[in-house]
Amino acid sequence: MSEPEILGESLPFDERIELSGWKHASVSADDYKAYLAKSLADPEASWAAVAKELHWFRHWDSVLSRDIYPHVYHWFEGGLLNLSYLALDRHASSWRRNKVALIWEGEPTDEKGGPREVRKITYGEMLRDVNRIASVLQRKFGLRKGDRMAVYMPLIPEAIMTLLAAARLGVTFTVVFSGFSAESLASRVADLEAKVIVTADGTYRRGKTVLFKEIVDKALEQTPSVKNVVLIRRLGVPCPMKEGRDYFLDELVSELPARATVEPEKVESGHPLYVLYTSGTTGKPKGIIHDTGGYATLLHATMKWVFDIRDDDVYWCPADIGWVTGHSYVAFGPLIEGATVVIFEGALDFPQPDRWWAIVERYGVSIFYTTPTATRAQMKFGEEPVRKHDLSSLRVIQSVGEPINPSAWRWLFTLVGNSSCPVGSTWWMTETGGVMVSSLPGLQLIPMKPGSNGLPIPGVKADIVDENGASVAPGKKGFLVIETPWPGMPGPPTGMYGDPERFEKQYYSRFPGKDYFFCGDYAVKDMDGYIWVAGRADEVLKVAGHRLGTYEIESAIVSHRAASEAAVVAIPDAIKGEVPIAFVVLRQGHEPDENLRKEVRKWVRESFSPIAEPAQVFFVNKLPKTRSGKIMRRLLRAVAEGKPLGDVATLEDETSVSEAKKAYEELGVK
Ligand code: WT7
Repeated sequence: MSEPEILGESLPFDERIELSGWKHASVSADDYKAYLAKSLADPEASWAAVAKELHWFRHWDSVLSRDIYPHVYHWFEGGLLNLSYLALDRHASSWRRNKVALIWEGEPTDEKGGPREVRKITYGEMLRDVNRIASVLQRKFGLRKGDRMAVYMPLIPEAIMTLLAAARLGVTFTVVFSGFSAESLASRVADLEAKVIVTADGTYRRGKTVLFKEIVDKALEQTPSVKNVVLIRRLGVPCPMKEGRDYFLDELVSELPARATVEPEKVESGHPLYVLYTSGTTGKPKGIIHDTGGYATLLHATMKWVFDIRDDDVYWCPADIGWVTGHSYVAFGPLIEGATVVIFEGALDFPQPDRWWAIVERYGVSIFYTTPTATRAQMKFGEEPVRKHDLSSLRVIQSVGEPINPSAWRWLFTLVGNSSCPVGSTWWMTETGGVMVSSLPGLQLIPMKPGSNGLPIPGVKADIVDENGASVAPGKKGFLVIETPWPGMPGPPTGMYGDPERFEKQYYSRFPGKDYFFCGDYAVKDMDGYIWVAGRADEVLKVAGHRLGTYEIESAIVSHRAASEAAVVAIPDAIKGEVPIAFVVLRQGHEPDENLRKEVRKWVRESFSPIAEPAQVFFVNKLPKTRSGKIMRRLLRAVAEGKPLGDVATLEDETSVSEAKKAYEELGVK
């Protein structure tokens, strides 16, 4: 394995940045070590102590128990709770009733550059509105515990309210990222057999309107399980409506009694809150199941430890609710804590590059959860857009989604945080439900290292291991694993929706004889035990922090009439971290030319998603394969990066590589 680096920058293992004067929440450095040691000696007891801080309708009988399928666990079995109760009712019946829960800013701006629409919604109001949505779903469409529904929505308050309404009823939901095509929406909805889709008429994106209903209608052609569509008016544009199937939410709400409430369903701790589809190495996206009790426990712990969240904070994470970050750290985590949460509909650099910082200043954001890609995109604009704004309200900055290169870290630390905010890189993934490896400003701020993820959080045993699952020495690259179950892990009944075998094979079969959860990431540990995740070790891409499978992009390409075979690999990109490029073999009768190249890119954009569009398409006559017919993407990556090919003993036909090289050299990637 090559030397660990992030975007060509070497890792500063020995750098230690301390924040003198940082006031951490509760424990002293010595206590923290004791707390950490205790949590690792008895993770179950330490997680139970965290879980006790939530509200349970019934206490659990056991902290951790096995379910029927291997590696599927019940956390807090016997316990009953409800996530919308945790996020709303608790606060609405306390002094927080009139505290602002959500501050929403729409994308359009006025002549002076200020936002045209801002909504501030209190916990009391939010509870009322969530009750109304839940009433509609229950009374009009008969949804109840155990049913499934899908959400395809822009970032508006109703999106978060809809998730909480589903949770209130015990209806398991799936959110499909609104940048995904009708086909992607359909396959997820069909897999989950959702009965209802909740969507909006559209959204604003970079000054243009994006319409949703036609996409949803197209998806509905392939999803017989869907009986009804609920539409939320965002743009106020006319939509094609099918009588008896499609309804506008506001019209249904107006038919409700003035006081429409739904008792929060007391669900078992193991009850599936949601299923989120994420890209794997092969096949269709995998539906990861998250439970209720374990998940809520992990969110509660990490909101305190990782973000140091307090009642006077204004918290902003610009993630979309289509991704797990938007579930855990926009919709649920901060509301469980009773925080004030900013959400923003639009693009972070629209209409001006300083939109980000204008929002931080406008609402006095104190906790900011960002991404390396967004940071690098901002760096490109220089310091002026940042310096123009008073960012003194900021006190904690965290990053997520992909490795952060040390120079991007430094930019956040010195310029954005004025060298006085902790800056960290929280490592986790859709499957883990919440943060697993991170700096912990709310517990104990140990010295920061630019680009490092830090230590595993208390109660989580993680390590870097070699091919055989043996711990590797500091400084050596290996695979990141989680050694024991954690709350928030993929939950009952099957870990992966409808596919317990694939769940076990994907995550628990890599190191035979060990119960390690295989994350698919390369990482290295330094002399201080700090973990540095360096990137994916499998065929999964992280494009601008978004997770895509090479296989998914290849499938999209070969569904084009001119393509017979395709191989997609990721190459480093200075802003997006990595971008896909595609090597494509054409069908007989199609000639390679610039138009076709453009067409294939457009095809991927429209039939799958704009985020998956290859940065370049290279036409070749054959792909490098092993004798058994497996595509050797490693060689294509080496060609694109101009690196040595390495071992080519299994390569079937060497001309395939020279051909790829020639195609790449002629065109390159601009
Ligand atoms: C993959 C998971 C976690 C929510 C958003 C992404 C990469 C994530 C970091 C980080 C280095 C990171 C990993 C991981 N990743 N955070 N702080 N440093 N890499 O969730 O879409 O499920 O992707 O994102 O490669 O496996 P996801």
